[in-house]
Amino acid sequence: MARIDLDLAHSYVAHPQKDEDYALLPLNFTFEDGGAYALLGPSGCGKTTLLNCISGLLRPSQGTIRFDGADVTEASPQARNIAQVFQFPVIYDTMTVGENLAFPLRNRGVPADKVRERVGRVAEMLDLSSSLDRRASGLAADAKQKISLGRGLVRQDVSAILFDEPLTVIDPHLKWQLRRKLKEIHQEFRLTLIYVTHDQTEALTFAEQVVVMSRGKAVQVGSADALFERPAHTFVGHFIGSPGMNFLPGQWRDGAIEVAGRRYMPELPPQTLAALQTAGSFKIGVRPEYLQLALADHPQAMPVRVERAQDIGTYWLVTATVANGTGEAPATIRARLGTEAAALRPGDTAWLTAFNRHTCFYINEELVP
Ligand SMILES: Nc1ncnc2c1ncn2[C@@H]1O[C@H](COP(=O)(O)OP(=O)(O)OP(=O)(O)O)[C@@H](O)[C@H]1O
Ligand SMILES: [Mg+2]
Repeated sequence: MARIDLDLAHSYVAHPQKDEDYALLPLNFTFEDGGAYALLGPSGCGKTTLLNCISGLLRPSQGTIRFDGADVTEASPQARNIAQVFQFPVIYDTMTVGENLAFPLRNRGVPADKVRERVGRVAEMLDLSSSLDRRASGLAADAKQKISLGRGLVRQDVSAILFDEPLTVIDPHLKWQLRRKLKEIHQEFRLTLIYVTHDQTEALTFAEQVVVMSRGKAVQVGSADALFERPAHTFVGHFIGSPGMNFLPGQWRDGAIEVAGRRYMPELPPQTLAALQTAGSFKIGVRPEYLQLALADHPQAMPVRVERAQDIGTYWLVTATVANGTGEAPATIRARLGTEAAALRPGDTAWLTAFNRHTCFYINEELVP
C-alpha cells in the first residue's frame, strides 16, 4: 500500500485557456497510506478523470503523481501496481468464478497454494465460496460484479484499490451488504481504498475521508461529521444532507444581523462577527435538523409561513417560506422536526430558531471560520 501525492490538473482540451476547459482544476492532495477515501460529487465533476489519473489510465495534462514519494506520472497502471474495479463487471465468462478470482494472482506468478488460500479467503468474504466451480457466464449481473470486486481485492501487494461506482449494477439490499463488507475488509487489511460515487450515503458510510468535488474542484475534504457540521462551501451544504442545508440571505446592520427585515444578535465568536461586519452581506446556513420550533418571543426565533408538514416516519419534514423583506421571492426553508410539527397547517405562521451553535455563515459561498 502506498501514500499517494497528487499535484496536478487535467484538461481534455489541447490548449486549455479558461477554468471551464479543465476537467480537473489544479489540485494538490495526499491520500494517506491505508486510508479509505471517497470521491463524491455530481455527474461530470471529474471523479473518473481523477481516478484514472491515479491508476495511470490517463496521463494528467499538468503536474505529477507520486506513490510513496516516487514519481509515477509516466508509469503504466501495471507498473503502478493498482487494482481498479469499474462500474460494470470485467470478468472472463469462459472461466469459473474461482479461476476469475485467481487470475490476477496467477498472472503474477503467485505460488498455487498461496493462490488457493487467498481466493478462498476473498470468496468467503464476498459469499462466493459455494460458486467457485461455476462458470461465470451464467451468473447474474450482481454476482458478476461481486467477482469483479473480488478480483480487485485478491492481491495483497497493490499500491491502492480504486473503485469507480462499483455498486451501480447491484440491487439495493446487496449494495448495503457489500458496502459494509468493503468497510470490514478495509479495517482488516488497511488497504488504501479510493471509492468514487455520486451517492452521499455510500460515501459517508464507507469512507473515513470524503473528497467532495464540484466542477473539477475538490471543494472540501473531511469526515462525514465535518461535512455535515461545517460545510466549507455552500455547495457542500446543499449536496450533503437530506434535504440539504438551508441558506438565507443576511445583512450586517447597525450592530446586528438582519434576516428578512428582523434583527438578531446571536452569540458568535468575535472573529466571525468581525468578518460579517466587514462583508456587510452574507448567507446564513442552517441544517434542517438544527431548526426548532420556538415561541414568538424567543430572541432568535424567525417567523415562517408553513407550506407543508409531512410525516416521513421517523421525523416530520416541514417546508416553509421566510419573507425576505426585499420584495424578492421568499426563501424556502426546510426543517426536520418531531411530532410537535403534526399540528402545523399550510398557511400557519410558525417560529423557528435559526441561530444556535450549529449555524454557519458564508461570504462569497465560503464558510466564515
Ligand atoms: N475522454 C474525454 N474526452 C473529453 N472530455 C471528457 C472525457 N472524459 C470526460 N470528459 C469530460 O470531463 C468532465 C469530467 O468527466 P468525468 O467523467 O471525470 O466526471 P465524473 O465525475 O466521473 O462523472 P460521472 O458521475 O457521470 O461518471 C466532464 O465534463 C466530461 O464531459
Ligand atoms: Mg465517472
